Amino acid sequence: MNRREFGAAVAGGLLSSPFAGSLGRLSGVFGLTAPRVDGARLNRHLTELSRFGANPQGGVTRLAYSDADKQAREYVLGLMRDAKLTPTIDAAGNIIASRPGRDAGRKPILFGSHIDSVPEGGNYDGNVGSMSAIEVAQTLAEQGITTRHPLQVVIWQNEEGGLYGSRAVSGQLTPEELQNVSRSGKTIAEGITFLGGDLQRLASARRAKGDIAGYLELHIEQGGTLERDHIDIGIVEGIVGIKQWEVTVTGFANHAGTTPMDQRHDALLAAARFVEAVNRIVTSVPGRQVGTVGRIQALPGAPNVIPGQVVCTLELRDLDAAKIDTLYAGITAEATRIGRQNGTTFAFRMLHENVPAPSDSRMRGLIAAAARDLSLTSRVMPSGAGHDAQAMATLAPMGMIFVPSVAGISHAPKEFSKPADIVNGANVLLLALLRFDESPRS
Ligand code: GLV
Ligand code: MN
Ligand code: MN
Repeated sequence: MNRREFGAAVAGGLLSSPFAGSLGRLSGVFGLTAPRVDGARLNRHLTELSRFGANPQGGVTRLAYSDADKQAREYVLGLMRDAKLTPTIDAAGNIIASRPGRDAGRKPILFGSHIDSVPEGGNYDGNVGSMSAIEVAQTLAEQGITTRHPLQVVIWQNEEGGLYGSRAVSGQLTPEELQNVSRSGKTIAEGITFLGGDLQRLASARRAKGDIAGYLELHIEQGGTLERDHIDIGIVEGIVGIKQWEVTVTGFANHAGTTPMDQRHDALLAAARFVEAVNRIVTSVPGRQVGTVGRIQALPGAPNVIPGQVVCTLELRDLDAAKIDTLYAGITAEATRIGRQNGTTFAFRMLHENVPAPSDSRMRGLIAAAARDLSLTSRVMPSGAGHDAQAMATLAPMGMIFVPSVAGISHAPKEFSKPADIVNGANVLLLALLRFDESPRS
């Protein structure tokens, strides 16, 4: 049985049930080897991608809408064409690369990730899932396997800023958010245009529930539990909700030498108390919720001027959206109290929300079965990081695969996942995709 016949066998249901069987066992029966990605090529592509926005200390700064982002996307487009995919840029600036299925009437299966980074980020967050998705497509092309469903490899734009590309597709992006200023300095609207999107046709990027057969994403864990417990594959059960706000503290700028200590309206002093209050309130209740003030700027910003204004951020995360809202209510009440102490005021403007998303139980089963096919250990676990998959979960069955992060380091130059673990993850992605494709209910 050659590769093309393997595809036909999948089509004809010769291969195992996606819920229980094993491609490995069937390979014995049919004398075929289940497909595998080219691990060396995958890791080579990851290394090549890491050139775009490379930092001297290691890792990358590849902010969404920066030149490095655009150049990396050009590189990705080339890989996609090599993989016999047909890439296009949708109106929201996402790269969507298609591969026909045997049944054009079926809705596409989407899989992919992102290649933008945080400032001074690592080489693996998003990149592993993006390069693996293309590698899966290339493997299918080389082995002559045509799936039942059309496939679309997606590289989402501006994941790190707040899932802007995927939320445009899921319909969660609001018109007001287009004016948010991204870390590149461009507004979201300017960024979309910069990447080749089309603001006039933004609505055309949207998809409705039922337009997508399913969504799969491979990602690094970004925490240390898989490595610590020697587990090969994480199967995501749910992704945390995230809300971010811009917080403006307004006081009164005045001379730092002539204004007595009891007559100051120091916005930075109030902001310092606010940072402490966020930590105190978030840790005051049991659970896995987290809260962070990750950016802060004092204005006008001179040693001899009492800061009249501070602009900072507040981010809250939890699997339970109601808990985020309760924490936020506590924090805003405390901010008002802090402001009263020195005659300052706090204003909160929500930047964006990623809603918490459970994964699909069938997808979890398929990923577990794919891991078993490969004799890999797996564990069901939550994701404390946000992912484009959570926007896709509002449209279609969503499944997410994690591979270990060495020492649990992420969003930092020392982020690292072992090449062999990455190859494992890509093979699980490949087999889970094939299992989902042949599933009678997909
Ligand atoms: C994305 O990486 C996030 O969790 O912020
Ligand atoms: Mn990511
Ligand atoms: Mn990230």
